Amino acid sequence: MRISQSRIGSFVVRFLTGCSLICAAASAAAENAAELLARAAQDTALHQTLVAEGRKAAFFCANCHGEAGISKFSNVPNLAGQHPAYLLRQIEAFLSGARKDEFMQGLMKVLNEREKASIVLMYASRPVPPLHPPGPLAADGARLYQQHCARCHLVDAHGSKDFPRLAGQQTDYLKISLRRYLTQSGERFYAPMTAAVTQLGERNIDAVVDYLSSRP
Ligand code: HEC
Ligand code: HEC
Repeated sequence: MRISQSRIGSFVVRFLTGCSLICAAASAAAENAAELLARAAQDTALHQTLVAEGRKAAFFCANCHGEAGISKFSNVPNLAGQHPAYLLRQIEAFLSGARKDEFMQGLMKVLNEREKASIVLMYASRPVPPLHPPGPLAADGARLYQQHCARCHLVDAHGSKDFPRLAGQQTDYLKISLRRYLTQSGERFYAPMTAAVTQLGERNIDAVVDYLSSRP
């Protein structure tokens, strides 16, 4: 199921009525989210505290991305199992306008630095089950993936701090993202991705996506 514009509108209304909660939290003392992530990487107790806070801070995100980071709509990305540094970079990209999505750009403005850190750590810590069993195109997709994509997104497609995880990602979201890079439609820009999808070829997008979304 895909999420529609009218559905997003209804979330905005629900969000504004719940804003007093988040907005009160947003006025708490700010600390740089990237520094908090660096500290939590060295400090297990802090990591656990932030993950617990993240569950609460993400109550609104869960409407679309799911409580455990497995999204409820096939055109909304899973956040589970994604590296916290990658997730934080995307939040910052929405905020700076480098990445465009009207709803997400507006929503990110309400998060304070501690909420950003706690939400990304919570989602990063959640497991990602494969979305569906491999389909008929998955074997071709696996070969093409190793040829064109694995050098950055890694052989197991689990990504790293620099490259997003693709294994188990939502089918429609993957297809939409790949076509956007291919056609340089402007929501995001990263030249090496445009080059990789150009080499892959539009006709092979479905096969690679079939493989990736079925991968554990
Ligand atoms: C109304 C549905 C909705 C809600 C609620 C929502 N998101 Fe999103 N989110 C989306 C969609 C759709 C995208 C993909 C945007 C695009 O196409 O680039 C997205 C993308 C993202 C991404 C980028 C993921 C990636 O793989 O690059 C992050 C990070 C994110 N959201 C975090 C959050 C956080 C944190 C919250 C809560 C504060 C939240 N979102 C609430 C719909 C939602
Ligand atoms: C040179 C390294 C590189 C190669 C090769 C590459 N990617 Fe990427 N990919 C990236 C980076 C970096 C990003 C994040 C860029 C951004 O923030 O827009 C990305 C983003 C993506 C996204 C968006 C993920 C999300 O959660 O929003 C998808 C899907 C993707 N790549 C799939 C692929 C596929 C499929 C291939 C092979 C055809 C491929 N990539 C090849 C580096 C690479």
